[in-house]
Amino acid sequence: MGPGVRGDSVSDNSGRTAHNARVWNYWLGGKDHYPIDEQVGNTVTSMYPSIGEVARADRDFLRRAVEYLAVEAGVRQFLDIGTGLPTADNTHQVAQRVADDARVVYVDNDPTVLTHARALLTSSPEGATSYLDADARDPEKILRAAADTLDLDRPVAVMMLGILNFVPDTATARSVVRTLLDALPSGSHLALTHPTLELGGEGNAEAMAFWNKNATPPITARSRDEIASFFAGWELVEPGLVSCARWRATTTTDGRLPQEVAQFGAVARKP
Ligand SMILES: C[S@@+](CC[C@H](N)C(=O)[O-])C[C@H]1O[C@@H](n2cnc3c(N)ncnc32)[C@H](O)[C@@H]1O
Repeated sequence: MGPGVRGDSVSDNSGRTAHNARVWNYWLGGKDHYPIDEQVGNTVTSMYPSIGEVARADRDFLRRAVEYLAVEAGVRQFLDIGTGLPTADNTHQVAQRVADDARVVYVDNDPTVLTHARALLTSSPEGATSYLDADARDPEKILRAAADTLDLDRPVAVMMLGILNFVPDTATARSVVRTLLDALPSGSHLALTHPTLELGGEGNAEAMAFWNKNATPPITARSRDEIASFFAGWELVEPGLVSCARWRATTTTDGRLPQEVAQFGAVARKP
């Protein structure tokens, strides 16, 4: 049965609404979504045509950030919050290509991600992966459970890619980040991506309003200054807070950086 408009929001005949993890999977070209996700994903794309590029640029950022963290920063432990559905180059695969003893804890609160979590539990024998069904707004629970897999007395890279935008209250989002980072030692890192209405993303406002009426969880964009505040007191790794498409990106043959997308990305180190 196909999706349709019921009441004042979009749902399918089972009352199912679109979920971010599945729509993100749709934009990335995956197969783990329902027709309702496709319908909402297509409407958002019609309102904000570069959303697919944002999703792909975000995943490319993930690969470059994890490579940086594993190769240049020597990090061997990763806490990936708001993991999303398994796709190509999940965090442990990128990290374990560099260091087969890398350990990764994945965290998401979407039931579909939980169903597919087995595909994330494919660690090398030397390393480890685990999956935690938890809400990012409960950092104490996340830290308690992560300690079963990670040594929290040693540096950890906290990955928060496309997740704080689902914590609409900025003070709450800051407090989540602070609680996580305060619990970790010097040499730990934060890798973050976040949508913005800057960087040419003005057209995203209407699409986000549509999303918030028709899909879940509710999303918010933030300004450069708001996103920079998540890194306060930490050392931003070069090139700092930039469009995630350009963070340590390879230049094209004519020496240009890739086209910007309206999603900031940065990596910072705890001094
Ligand atoms: C945009 S996707 C990003 C996935 C992946 N990090 C990436 O960059 O490709 C956001 C993910 O965050 C998850 N998420 C949203 N709100 C959450 C919350 N409060 N707690 C845990 N996960 C959440 C969604 O289920 C979804 O899988």
